[in-house]
This record gives sequence, structure tokens and C-alpha cells, in this order.
Amino acid sequence: MDKSLRKVVIAGNWKMNKTPDEATALINEIKPLVADANCDVVACVPYIDLFAAMEAAKGSNIKIGAENCHWAESGAFTGEVSANMLKTIGVEYVVIGHSERRQFFGETDVTVQKRVRAALDNGLKVILCVGELLEEREQNVTMEIVRMQTKIALLGVSEAELENIIIAYEPVWAIGTGKTATAAQANEVNCAIRALIGELYGKAAADKIVVQYGGSMNAGNADELLAQYDVDGGLIGGASLKAPDFAAIVKAASK
Ligand code: PGA
Repeated sequence: MDKSLRKVVIAGNWKMNKTPDEATALINEIKPLVADANCDVVACVPYIDLFAAMEAAKGSNIKIGAENCHWAESGAFTGEVSANMLKTIGVEYVVIGHSERRQFFGETDVTVQKRVRAALDNGLKVILCVGELLEEREQNVTMEIVRMQTKIALLGVSEAELENIIIAYEPVWAIGTGKTATAAQANEVNCAIRALIGELYGKAAADKIVVQYGGSMNAGNADELLAQYDVDGGLIGGASLKAPDFAAIVKAASK
């Protein structure tokens, strides 16, 4: 396999942080620090911050994404935002299936699949999150869990559509805990995800798919994680809220 067939993507996941004014300030701070990045740079932000972030990012190499989307185009779904709405305002990326959505908001593999479908139908690029819980790793079913989550999420996704999918492997025990997967652990699961894509879509698709690692990636450990053969970037939570830290990760990914 040829890693040069893939591009590296560093995406921030701001979670429930930053007001619109703060979003403008943070994007403005990040902009000059990542202007010469040799990788794709994305900031996924709360819905309320999308306009401010897109405005601040105009003319720069920072792409803006949302953190979720609903599968219906419109309707009686209080509190939700549709993929169609995101597309309409010019959002490019959307995170789907984040473990916090699965843990705290009843997201299932089936609803993840529906959201992925809607996002693709609306021309959005999807950052699809998969990953095992600590007890699942301890029970030695990490690969089964990650394969199942990925397979269900991709049901009905064509090889051509796969170009708009990034898979983020995020072990739940490593998210926001400061407990990073070792580079070897990250690479092992990312490699298994790529192998699954090979089974489902063939070698060319497996060579091309971008598989990120996420979970306490920071300025200190990004170099080692991103040097792994099957780690094509990162989904960054905490460290994406501090411009210098996020920029250091982008720099590590640009090597
Ligand atoms: P973290 O979050 O970097 O704060 O661990 C990663 C994520 O949830 O995407």
C-alpha cells in the first residue's frame, strides 16, 4: 500500500465549547499558524458557531464542519439540524457517530448509518467516528466492535461515495482522559479498518481512505502517532481549543 495516495487531515472537534465571538477569535488565531500546512485542516464547531467560524475562515485553508446532523431533510425533530440545512449555509464537513453522541444521546449504529446517508446525499464530507469502550478492549473485542460499527455505518455507501468519508478511530477510553492509545495500538486498529475497507470495496479504496486517530492527541504525542503508517491524521478535541497546540499538531502532520 502506498501512503502517498492519501492526504492527511487534521480536524478539530470543539464539542460544546466557544460562543460565536470566541469562535471568531480562535479561528483568527489559528489561521496564520496553519497557513502553510501540508495537510487538510478542519474545525468542527457547535451549530451556533458555524456562521462566525465560516466567516473568519474565509480565504484561508481552514475548512469548517459541524458536529452532527439529522437524517431527515426537515420535520418534527425538535432541537435537530438537518444535513440539508448545513449544506445550504455552506458547511463542508460533519462529524457523525462521535462516542459522546453514542454515550449520552442514544446514538446507535443504525442512526449513525442514517446520518451518514443524509450527509452524503447532501454533498457533505463525513468524519465517521468508531471506537471501543474500555471494557470492550479488556474483553478483547476491539476489532469486532470497530468492524461492526464501520460496516453498519457504511451500509449502502458506494465506492465513489467513500471519497467523501474519513474514518476516525477513537478509543472511547482515550477521549478527554489524557490516556492516549499507544502509537502501536492506534496503528493496529487503523490498519484493521483499512483492511475492512479492502474487504468491502477493494484495494484501491483501502489505499485511498483516510483513517484518523482521535483520543487525547496533543502537541506532545502527535509526531509519534502521525508517523504510523495507517494513521492519516487526527480528530482533536481538547487540544483543538488552543491555537498553538492545534497548530503544533498540524505542523506534525505536515512533515
Ligand atoms: P480529545 O477528544 O482529543 O479531547 O481526547 C477527541 C475527540 O473526542 O474527538
